[in-house]
Amino acid sequence: MSDYANEINRRRTFAIISHPDAGKTTLTEKFLLYGGAINLAGSVKGKATARHAVSDWMEIEKERGISVTSSVLQFEYDDFCINILDTPGHQDFSEDTYRTLMAADSAVMVIDGSKGVEAQTRKLFKVCVMRHIPIFTFINKMDRDANDTFELLDEIEKELGIATCPVNWPIGSGKAFKGVYERESRSIFTYSDTQKGTKEGDTTVISIDDETAVKEAIGEDARALLSDEIELLDGASAEFDLELVQKGELTPVFFGSALTNFGVEVFLQHFLKMTTTPLPRMSDKGLIDPVENDFSAFVFKIQANMNKAHRDRVAFMRICSGKFDASMEVKHVQGGKTMRLSQPQQIMADSRKILEEAYAGDIIGVFDPGIFSIGDTICAPKENFSYEGIPTFAPEHFARVRQMDTMKRKQFIKGVNQIAQEGAIQIFQEYNTGMEEIIVGVVGVLQFDVLKYRLENEYNVEIKLEPLPYEHIRWIENKEIDLDKITGTSDMKKVKDLKGNPLLLFVNSWSVGMTLDRNEGLVLTEFSRN
Ligand code: G4P
Repeated sequence: MSDYANEINRRRTFAIISHPDAGKTTLTEKFLLYGGAINLAGSVKGKATARHAVSDWMEIEKERGISVTSSVLQFEYDDFCINILDTPGHQDFSEDTYRTLMAADSAVMVIDGSKGVEAQTRKLFKVCVMRHIPIFTFINKMDRDANDTFELLDEIEKELGIATCPVNWPIGSGKAFKGVYERESRSIFTYSDTQKGTKEGDTTVISIDDETAVKEAIGEDARALLSDEIELLDGASAEFDLELVQKGELTPVFFGSALTNFGVEVFLQHFLKMTTTPLPRMSDKGLIDPVENDFSAFVFKIQANMNKAHRDRVAFMRICSGKFDASMEVKHVQGGKTMRLSQPQQIMADSRKILEEAYAGDIIGVFDPGIFSIGDTICAPKENFSYEGIPTFAPEHFARVRQMDTMKRKQFIKGVNQIAQEGAIQIFQEYNTGMEEIIVGVVGVLQFDVLKYRLENEYNVEIKLEPLPYEHIRWIENKEIDLDKITGTSDMKKVKDLKGNPLLLFVNSWSVGMTLDRNEGLVLTEFSRN
């Protein structure tokens, strides 16, 4: 086993989380540039695909036969093999985005320095916290006027509830941006606006103690302000503690500008030093160590092919332990079958590459003839364990589904159930009644269009969606509670999910609070582990 321990230990698998437009794509491009994976930045994904409208999206899906949202990028840097999991934004935002985070060992949070913590970052952050994975913060766009640095840090601490530890500190921003001060080396890295896409900048590194050089580089005013800020910072900020970082309780913060390529490589180097090798994962047989155990993986995403001519599905798996070899037999635990995984591939932003081998930490996509479900475990034939399931995340948009042609009831039920099984939508029924009325919940509104499109094209069923005003859903943690006895606000609706779990729908967060107040002992959660 030791012959490939090194392969596993050099892997780093992380997700990048941010609000749209904070600079995630630009930062990723620069990472790839340093890794030599691409020659010129700008080729990760064209803006046309990143900013497409709904109708284009369908076309893109069809053309490529695979979701544009499913990208995993792998590149080499300094002996590390790095897997970046993209978490799509804009209208692509869906439950898959959350599930992708279940496959990462750490997260990089990109924040726009002039905007601070924004909605999508907040949502994705919650999932990272739930998993206790390390979170690294890159405050971007320092070449533009940014908010006050102390206020930015304060916002992260208050809004997200994580302590911050700046690794470097910006000297001004916008037109007055002079560079960053790196605390550990007590050096100033002067700002240089490299040409977009090139690697080398002409940053100079100056010791903070070399007063003359510092004054010359950043000016007397900036120097005076910086020394005040450093003093304040040293007194106020949390001490760097790698253990707390790895538990996800402290986030190292970096400042830079992805577009002008400032602070990106320094960030990557520090990040690689601080982040973790592939993490062990909990199963019903205890923790599974990535190096000590034979091959195992779990399915975190299923992507149905939008192309009618190829009705296949791709199941994305995160390898959790051992080595995967394309010729090996594996056991699909939930299906109780031993098999070979068909067409194992690495899914890149715009291509697929057939794989011969892969290691713990890697993500592979395999052809799925309709047997896999989200959360399934794949392992060596002699083993038999299941990884902890992937939670179901709270949808934020709800609609009642009306079937246009009631004669096609069977196809309708089949279609809705299959699409729900893939995890693209969640379906709920009225509490106490059957399937007569179906309520669909989605994380991103685009999934409504996907549902309509797929029911029409794959199941020949036309539907009408009537939007419902609910925005909050809560699972009831203490199931022994009698649902009939729960009294809520007048806008509250009681429903159940496919597995019969009781849930409550609310129009606003105030109603959630009211209901909790009115029902002593009621415990509500924003995700379900069942
Ligand atoms: P996203 O993936 O998080 O959605 O963001 P993306 O990288 O696409 O960046 C959003 C916009 O912000 C882009 O501008 C990009 O060039 C710009 N940007 C990213 N990083 C920086 C930075 O460090 N400084 C500055 N000033 N701008 C940055 P755009 O005009 O929307 O697109 P484009 O025409 O430049 O491609």
